[in-house]
Parts: sequence; C-alpha cells; structure tokens
Amino acid sequence: MLEACAAVKSLRTYRPPLAGRQGLRLDFNESTTGCSRRVLARLHSLDSEALARYPEREPVEAEVAGFLGLDASQVLLTNGVDEAIHLLCSTYLDPDDEAIIVVPTFAMYAIYAQAEGAHMVQVPSSENFTFPLDDLLSRISSRTRLIAVANPNNPTGTAVACDILVQVARAAPDAAILVDEAYFEFHGETVLHHTSRLANLFVARTFSKAYGLAGLRIGILAGDPAQMAIVSRVASPYNVNAVALAVLPEALRDQEYVEDYVSEVQRGREVLQQELGALGLRHWTSRANFVLVRVGPAYTEFIQALRTRGILVRDRHTDPACDGCVRLTVGSFEHTQTLIVSLREVVRKLRERLEVNV
Ligand SMILES: Cc1ncc(COP(=O)(O)O)c(C=O)c1O
Repeated sequence: MLEACAAVKSLRTYRPPLAGRQGLRLDFNESTTGCSRRVLARLHSLDSEALARYPEREPVEAEVAGFLGLDASQVLLTNGVDEAIHLLCSTYLDPDDEAIIVVPTFAMYAIYAQAEGAHMVQVPSSENFTFPLDDLLSRISSRTRLIAVANPNNPTGTAVACDILVQVARAAPDAAILVDEAYFEFHGETVLHHTSRLANLFVARTFSKAYGLAGLRIGILAGDPAQMAIVSRVASPYNVNAVALAVLPEALRDQEYVEDYVSEVQRGREVLQQELGALGLRHWTSRANFVLVRVGPAYTEFIQALRTRGILVRDRHTDPACDGCVRLTVGSFEHTQTLIVSLREVVRKLRERLEVNV
C-alpha cells in the first residue's frame, strides 16, 4: 500500500474554518474593504492573452525590489508568505534538524518544518506574550537550522524590537532566521535593511493584509543574494500567477490607498482596545490589524453571539497560553464601530459567564 513519508504521516490536518463566512469577516485578519480601485481596474483590463501565457516573475520582482530599496537579487516573489515559509524549510531543514519558534504563533512554521522531518523546539512567550530572548538563545544548538518569528506576532499582536531580532540572527549564524513581517504596515518597524549585512536573515512580507489581496496569493521573501539564489532553486518558475503579477505594480503605486486603510486600522485599534478595557475584557496591546482578547470559558457562546449579530471572529483558545481567547480583526473604522456596538450587547448579555474585570 502506498504510504506517505513518516514526517508527513505524523502531521495533523490544519483546516482553518473557511466555510460559511457570510457576514462581517473579522476572523482571518483580511482587509475588510478589499483592494484599491486602481488594482481592480488593472485586473479588469486583463485579456485572454494575459492568461494564456506562463507568468514571468522577474520584471515584477525588479519593481518590488526597487520599492523596497533592495537589489532584485535579494527578492523572490512567492505564493503568499505561506510559500516563503515552505521554501525556507525545504532549503535549510534536513530530517532531525531543529526549528525554533516562540509560541503561540502562526501555525504554518511548525507544519512546514515538521514536513521536512525537523524537530520543533517551542519556546513559550514570557509574561504578557513578551519575547523570551534569553530562553530562545539558550535553546539554540548545533542542530538549530531555522528560527521563525512573526513580528508583529499572530495571534497575540505583540511585537519585538528589531535589535533583539538582529541579536538572535547573530547568535545562530548556521540557522536561517525568518522574520515574518506579514503585518508590517500596521506596525512600521522592519529588519529588512539588516538582510544586506546578515546572510542568514530573511524577511517575509504579504499583500494579503494591508493591500487586501489575500485571494491573489502573493508575498515576498527577501534576503542575502547568495542565499536567495539557493532558495529559488526549490521554487516553481511559475509559483506566482499571472493575475497577481499583473496587478502587483499597480498595488505598489497606489500607496495612498494602503496608507489610508492602515491609518483607519490604527485608529480603530486604539478605539477597540479602549473599549475592551472599558468592558473589563483582558487583552494585549496590538501592533497588527487584530486584537487578542480573553473572554474566559464561555468563548464559544461569545463567538456564537457575535455570529448571530453577523460578525465572525476567531477562536484561539487552543493556542498555547491562550485559553478562553478570541481574536478580533480590526478592519475599516466603520467596521470597528459595528464590532464595538455588538461587543457591548454581547458583554451585557453574557456578563455573568465572561471573565470581566471592572
Ligand atoms: C504571521 C503570518 N504570516 C503569514 C500569514 C499568511 O500570509 P499569506 O496570505 O501571504 O500566505 C499570516 C496569515 O494570517 C500570518 O498571520
């Protein structure tokens, strides 16, 4: 009988709750307003010839590199950050190597690392989900070949200072250090410029969040030119589709759209956090487009009560140290106000059953 390799057989199926997502979608950290009109117009202008051809990545890569202030040899476009993670794991991990992550964090690091047969070293976050630098440094060994850090982190929204990430990269020169900046636009701090000096440092970015293009599947992996040439060997020459490549330059040019959306999210994030405080719900100050909140054992009723009001939020109670936690995406300012109105009603209704401190 045909059997999968041992590493893949030991993986658990990861199935995000994508079904039945009608309503205000505050469950996947997507943009709640969609992409810019200029991007949509470019998309509508595509003809059948554009779809008949195999996509050519390099010219768009050069534009993206220019936008980031990098050389084209430092940039690879990927099928979302997910593929960037996959490529790094395939390139650097042999069976029985070690990959370090700080938990709770984004699920795909462990999935792709374990698929290569690597051992996961999970370092728990410190108090209040702060970055456990000393613990992480103490877990680096001669077998460490990958360290992945989401900054800001998902699902906590917390961020770590860039100089600490540089310290990690220096402490593990034989490991690939991935700084996943999927939520960079909402935070504004980056280690991107350090990739020119640190050959083992990689930065990933996505167009799924601030640019509102999650459905197109497009992301960036940036790093040292020699390392990027190696990573590119495992990528399909056609990994990014023609539609994504056609609209990406327009998305980059329409920075006004991105800046407007990001400032709405940042304003909404402040107001939402104040409201959560006023409602007595424990939450963690976020640098991303979502806020993690602890509602306690009645998290299912809380999520269901919001769903009844047409709002989808994400159950995170199974993440390490996240019991009773739910993640709320921050969308446009109007959508955040809609969320707040429903939050007030739900907290009033479930007050006795929620962990509320006022
Ligand atoms: C930290 C982090 N990295 C990567 C991704 C996935 O990005 P993409 O849509 O580009 O694959 C997500 C999506 O939620 C995320 O939270």
